[in-house]
Amino acid sequence: MKNMLVTGGCGFIGTNFVRYLLKESDFKGRVINADKLTYAGNPENLTDIEENFPERYIFEKVDICDRENIARIFDEHEIDTICHFAAESHVDRSIVDPDAFIQTNIVGTFGLLELAKANQDRLELFHHISTDEVFGSLGKDGFFTEQTSYKPNSPYSASKAASDHLVRAYHKTYGLQVTISNCSNNYGPYQFPEKLLPLMILNGLEGKSLPVYGDGRNVRDWLFVRDHCTAIWEIMKRGKRGETYNIGGNHEMENIGLVEMICDILDGIQKPEAKESRRELIAFVKDRPGHDRRYAIDSTKLNRELGWVPKESLETGIRKTIQWYIDNREWVNRVRSGEYQSWIKEQYG
Ligand code: NAD
Ligand code: DAU
Repeated sequence: MKNMLVTGGCGFIGTNFVRYLLKESDFKGRVINADKLTYAGNPENLTDIEENFPERYIFEKVDICDRENIARIFDEHEIDTICHFAAESHVDRSIVDPDAFIQTNIVGTFGLLELAKANQDRLELFHHISTDEVFGSLGKDGFFTEQTSYKPNSPYSASKAASDHLVRAYHKTYGLQVTISNCSNNYGPYQFPEKLLPLMILNGLEGKSLPVYGDGRNVRDWLFVRDHCTAIWEIMKRGKRGETYNIGGNHEMENIGLVEMICDILDGIQKPEAKESRRELIAFVKDRPGHDRRYAIDSTKLNRELGWVPKESLETGIRKTIQWYIDNREWVNRVRSGEYQSWIKEQYG
């Protein structure tokens, strides 16, 4: 793995992965980050990486659906490995306007697979990043394993499921060297403040309402993003080709419990204005249509085969994340005001 194409490297998980790969892992090659820079992609996340690793980090602003340009990047940088993060990732947006989800998540992935197939002689690995949402919703008990059948419920998860099937099919039919990982809800630094955790942290800090969908009893399994990055890298290095691995945080929590936990930690750091506790800011709002009740991942296979376990506890992970958002108000302001978008226009046209 000398020249790795990372798609979507300016998004939340992609940013953390590129930083991990170049600063902490034993990867010795170059990263070519291909990102369209949608509202969710911010190249400022990697400015220091660009400065500190000029020989090993290259950024290309490109849409993965632009097959001509992606092929050019592939040849120019002699790509031998792909780690595919690029996607439309927010469930609520997929309910309102699914079009981009179909284009990027399905058609974009198909284009990358076609390119990988055409360059099979030098392609060592196509690693596809997917989600536990493809499995649908669990009842009170049980876990998603690699054998669980797919039952996606939102346009987002249906588009991710379609892309997973295509990746698998290219392995079975054309012998493409692939691995797939399906992970649970990530949290940590650089997450766009539309997702539950950063939204609650920022609204909580600003004394704004904390909107909890439905009865707040939906359960998610929370995975600290750095743990996710170490798992991806282990799978890429040592995972069996053609196989799927589940990655979970072992931290199931009802949304309401998580939001209350955030409120209590914030109260401990900074007294709320004109309130006893930030819990008073919690507002139960209209439920998300088709809202999956419970996700829970069984990552026994990853543990058994590759010895991976998540290291971060939920409490320490949330504290670190809160501190990151407190320390990086400038990042938050620029992301929220869209200021970074004007910067993108200036830099990349
Ligand atoms: P994100 O929305 O933060 O980032 C997505 C990135 O992809 C952005 O930088 C965006 O500009 C880029 N992108 C979007 N469309 C593109 C296109 N057509 N061409 C090139 N780049 C494009 O997403 P994330 O939370 O970092 O998720 C990354 C991957 O992980 C996705 O595939 C998602 O389905 C998967 N995943 C996310 C989570 C989670 O909790 N965030 C959990 C499981 C799986
Ligand atoms: O499970 C993995 C998935 O996790 C990823 O594939 C998706 O890309 C990622 O966005 C995430 O999806 P969720 O829908 O689980 O994440 P979100 O942060 O949007 O919501 C988490 C839970 O919190 C969910 O049950 C909906 C609820 N929620 C969300 C928001 C934004 C609220 O109650 N209030 C909110 O304002």
